[in-house]
Amino acid sequence: MQLISTVEELRQRLCGETSIAFVPTMGNLHEGHLDLVRIARQHGRCVVVSIFVNPLQFGANEDFGKYPRTLQADCGKLEGLADVVFAPTERELYPQPQQVTVEPPSANELCGAFRPGHFRGVATVVLKLLNIVQPQVAVFGKKDYQQLYVVRQVAAQLNLPVEIVGGETVRAPDGLALSSRNQYLSAAGRTKAAFLYRMLVGMQQAMLGGERDYPKLERQAVEALTARGWQVDYVAVRTQVGLAQPESGECGLVILAAARLGETRLIDNLEVCLKG
Ligand code: PAF
Repeated sequence: MQLISTVEELRQRLCGETSIAFVPTMGNLHEGHLDLVRIARQHGRCVVVSIFVNPLQFGANEDFGKYPRTLQADCGKLEGLADVVFAPTERELYPQPQQVTVEPPSANELCGAFRPGHFRGVATVVLKLLNIVQPQVAVFGKKDYQQLYVVRQVAAQLNLPVEIVGGETVRAPDGLALSSRNQYLSAAGRTKAAFLYRMLVGMQQAMLGGERDYPKLERQAVEALTARGWQVDYVAVRTQVGLAQPESGECGLVILAAARLGETRLIDNLEVCLKG
């Protein structure tokens, strides 16, 4: 496995590769990321993982400064799974202030409503990375469901020659979705955190059992989370395709939630496939 930090060296290394599968990450890798890398291996002969904490996608009061940077440990975990790790510096990826940006759809909804500019930052860095790596396939986790939607839209609407593949969320035994931000939780917070997934499962069961009053389910979920000490950003039932508010009769739905335990903001989601 090769560790590369410049665009020029990466381009030289990948020149002539015709089957590249790419996993963009911000590092601090856990089993969820490694699963995406294994999926990438099924799609390409050369697997590239990028590690870059992208300042453009963090708001002024967010955790850019304290986001865990663990390059050495990450490389250890990728040994035997990836062929190339691309870990550029900020100056390498943004040699000048980034004035050309991508404004994706749904940028101000769901997480976008609470993190202004976040999806612009994500879409912009993902487009840059896809242009640098030029993979045939890129793999993103379903844990960041809205991000996956945004990236698919960027790829489709800007005619990028890349297939976007979604990887299932990997969970701890108690159901908590694996995330680098879980480590911000206190011991008590970590125990409480599993309730987010239990709440999603409860909503999913109600919908599969025939409940179609989604606003009621959303309200009940917000109440249940709030009663347990969460500050809720949103709980929303949306269509899997387009992340739109469901109208009657839609079968492919997803429940998305974002809420804070203390300072730690967690997101999760669960797909619900209703019978037509
Ligand atoms: O999901 C992430 O880790 C980041 O948002 C991504 C896709 C690597 C862009 O910085």
